[in-house]
Amino acid sequence: MRRPAAIGAQDAAWEAVLSVRDRARRAPIELPLEVPLGRSRLLIDRDGGWRLSPEGDAELGEFLVLYLPLALIPHHRPFALAHLAQSLDGRIATLGGASQWLTGEPDLCHTHRLRALADAVLVGAATVRQDDPRLTVRRCAGGQPVRVVLDPRMSLDDDRQVFRDDSAPTLVLAAADCVGTRTHVGAAEIVPVPSDGERLAPAAIRAALAARGLYWLFIEGGGVTVSRFLAAQALDRLQIAIAPVLLGSGRPSLALPEIGDLAAALRPRMRRFALGDDILVECVFHDR
Ligand SMILES: NC(=O)c1ccc[n+]([C@@H]2O[C@H](COP(=O)([O-])OP(=O)(O)OC[C@H]3O[C@@H](n4cnc5c(N)ncnc54)[C@H](OP(=O)(O)O)[C@@H]3O)[C@@H](O)[C@H]2O)c1
Repeated sequence: MRRPAAIGAQDAAWEAVLSVRDRARRAPIELPLEVPLGRSRLLIDRDGGWRLSPEGDAELGEFLVLYLPLALIPHHRPFALAHLAQSLDGRIATLGGASQWLTGEPDLCHTHRLRALADAVLVGAATVRQDDPRLTVRRCAGGQPVRVVLDPRMSLDDDRQVFRDDSAPTLVLAAADCVGTRTHVGAAEIVPVPSDGERLAPAAIRAALAARGLYWLFIEGGGVTVSRFLAAQALDRLQIAIAPVLLGSGRPSLALPEIGDLAAALRPRMRRFALGDDILVECVFHDR
């Protein structure tokens, strides 16, 4: 099992990852590339492979294995990664909606790193209704992503934190035929998206965000939102952080249309990491 690096070395590695991501955000990244990492140099070769000079320890290596591919996503290439924290029995919250916190501090910190890598962080309306999250980067260094809420009928009250605070721009994606003349929910801008009834097609969501220069999308939940992206084959990667806890009841993690044969199951390439007491499994559906 891979185990990410100790704290001081992690900070230096995270700065290096952020600097790679900043370059990839601004322009097509030219490889090979050399980036300072603490007292070492991170050397990235033409196919995305890398080494440290002088060599770092195994934990630092695992940290880079986790984040570097996500920082190297090519300039303006649409990319969507989802993350869910779940119990061993596949629940992301109690039936009443309590989910804070299923996984431990390392996974919470990881979630903030994913926000910092992303152009936009996206959640479903039920998550905003239940958790009233800020969706900002606070547990690590990094810039703030644009916040996106999927609320097809604009059902959320404008007193939610994402619609009130000015820490990052916020968009509400709503069904085009429901929007009428409304332009804002609090400080958040409403973006009409073509819909099939009240469902917004994940491809249409990605296209609407790409049209605004938002390519690298972090879909932070909940289960309904992530499941719809997965069912529409609109995820490049899916990360599931599994906490050593059994809820026995609660809101489901993934729920996809029924299959009758195991041959129809998804069997993506996997990467596994240890995050404190939790296990992070990453499913890779599409490579760079
Ligand atoms: N453990 C975790 O990782 C994690 C992460 C986030 C949230 N949570 C928890 O999960 C719960 C909420 O998750 P959830 O699965 O119930 O709901 P959710 O995914 O947060 O929100 C689902 C709602 O978002 C809207 N939506 C999502 N995708 C859409 C699409 N393609 N088109 C149109 N509308 C779309 C719909 O709103 P309408 O119903 O208005 O149409 C839908 O009912 C909360 O309890 C929260 O605490 C856990």
